[in-house]
Amino acid sequence: MTESLTAVINLDVAGPQISRHVYGHFAEHLGHCIYGGIFVGEDSDIPNVRGIRTDVVEALRALDIPNLRWPGGCFADEYHWRDGVGPREDRPTVVNTHWGNVVEDNSFGTHEFMDLVDQLGTEPYICGNVGSGTVHEMADWVEYLTRSGEAPMSSLRRANGRDEPWKVKFWGIGNESWGCGGNMRPEYYADLARQYSTYCREHDGNKLYKIAGGANIDDYHWTETLMKTLGDLGCGCNPRHFFDAISLHYYTFPGEWEPKHPAIDSDADTYYDTMRSAWRIDELLTRHGNVMDVYDPAKRIGLVLDEWGTWFSVESGTNPGFLYQQNTMRDALVASVHFDSFHRHADRLVMANIAQTVNVLQAVLLTDGDQLVKTPTYHVFEMNKGHQDADSLDVAWIKEPVPTREVNKVTVPMVSASASTKDGSALVSLSNLDLEESRTVRLDLRGRGVTAVAGRILSATDIADHNTGATPEAVAPAAFETGAVDGGILTVELPAHSFVTLSLTLA
Ligand code: AHR
Repeated sequence: MTESLTAVINLDVAGPQISRHVYGHFAEHLGHCIYGGIFVGEDSDIPNVRGIRTDVVEALRALDIPNLRWPGGCFADEYHWRDGVGPREDRPTVVNTHWGNVVEDNSFGTHEFMDLVDQLGTEPYICGNVGSGTVHEMADWVEYLTRSGEAPMSSLRRANGRDEPWKVKFWGIGNESWGCGGNMRPEYYADLARQYSTYCREHDGNKLYKIAGGANIDDYHWTETLMKTLGDLGCGCNPRHFFDAISLHYYTFPGEWEPKHPAIDSDADTYYDTMRSAWRIDELLTRHGNVMDVYDPAKRIGLVLDEWGTWFSVESGTNPGFLYQQNTMRDALVASVHFDSFHRHADRLVMANIAQTVNVLQAVLLTDGDQLVKTPTYHVFEMNKGHQDADSLDVAWIKEPVPTREVNKVTVPMVSASASTKDGSALVSLSNLDLEESRTVRLDLRGRGVTAVAGRILSATDIADHNTGATPEAVAPAAFETGAVDGGILTVELPAHSFVTLSLTLA
C-alpha cells in the first residue's frame, strides 16, 4: 500500500548557502586508511604517483572532495610532525598506540599529505597535537607549512625539498580533548585552545581558520564552555580572535555504544534503530546551534562536524584496532539522512567530515590489494555533489504528515528530503527509509518553472547489499524515471529503502 505525501518547495526562495565543506573527508593513520588505502609507496605494483594510489585519487576527484582532514583523530594527539619530514630512511618509527599498536614508519608525512591534497585538488585540514605536543611544536608546524623567505622552519622545509610554502586554511587545535586527546575538562581545554591558537601565526598572509576541539555527541556543556571563552561578543571586538569554529563528533550505531553489530546485517529492528541513531544528528545540530546562538547570534562562529559516520563491529579476521567494516545500502541511507540535516543547518554548519575516506568505518572506498570498490556511501556523495555551495531550499511537508515509526521510544521519520538551487537548476534529494513500503511523493514546485527533470536512484534488493571486488556494481546509481511536471506538481514513486535525486532545470 502506498500513501501520498506532498512537499512544497519554493524554488525562488533561497535559504543559506550549503558550504561545499560539509562534503569533507577524513583520513587518519588508522588501519589501512593511509597505508595501503591511499599510500602504497613508489615501488608498489599498484599504479601510483609518488606513492599515492592513482585509482583512489581518480575516484575521490570524481566526488569533488572539498577538504581532507589529517592525520587524525586520536592519532593526531600523538603525532609529532617532525617525525614525518626529511629523508624517509632517517625518519623514526613510533608505535600507533591507539590503532592496533602497530609500528608507524612515518613514510607518509607532511610533504606526502600535501602532495595528496594537491593531486586531489582539495584543501588540507590539519589537526595539530594538543594532547601530547607543545605550543612550540604546533607553532613551528604552521611556520613550516606556510612561511616563505629565510626563517628557521621555511629553511628546513626548503632543505626537505619544498621551496614554496603551501596554503593551509583549516587548522584543528587538538582532537577529542575530552577523551583520547588528553582527557581534559572543558574549562582546562578552553584555556589551552586560546593559548595554542595565540601562537598559530598567520605567515605571509596565510589566513588560518582555527577549529577548536569540540564536544562529543550531546555534551552541550563543552560547547557552552568554549563559546564563553570567546569573551563578550557585545564588545564589538572580533569573536574569532581565538578560533573560528568549534567541532563536534557524532557516530551512528544501533543500540548502546559498543560496536557489536555487524556491518552486513538485514535485521529489521537493527536497521530501524540505526535510522533512529542517524536522525539524531538533526537534534544535535539544532541543540549545539542553540547554545552557540546565545553567545553568537550573528553566527560568526562555525560548527564543524569533523567526524561522523557508522560504527559497526570489524569484519571477522581483521585487526580489531583497524576498524575495517563493509558498507551497505543501510550506510547509504545513514549518509543521505545526514546530508539532508546538514543542508537544513546550513546557517551554522560550515564543515563535516566522513569517518573515514578509505578502509575505516563508513568508508567511501574499500581497497584489497590492487582492487578498489566504491561503496554505497560513495554513491550518495556523488549523487549529492550538486548541493555543494548551492543555496538551500526549504522542503515543507503539507497535508499528510511524514510517516513515522516508533523505535526504542523515539519517533523516527521514514522519509527524509532536502533541496538546493544553483546556476539555474535545483537538486532534490529524497530517501525512503521504510524497508517494506514504497512512497508516492508529490513535489509542489513553486516560484519557477521546471523545463526538465533528470532522476537517479540508489537502491538494492536487500538493505545489506554491498559492493565487493567480485560484484563492484551490486549497489550503484541508475536512471530513475519520473513523469513530467504537471501544473507545478512532480509525482515520484520512491521504492522501499531507496535514495533518489532529482535534477531540475529551471525556466
Ligand atoms: O574515527 C576513529 C576515531 O574515532 C578517531 O580517531 C577519534 O577521534 C574518534 O574517537
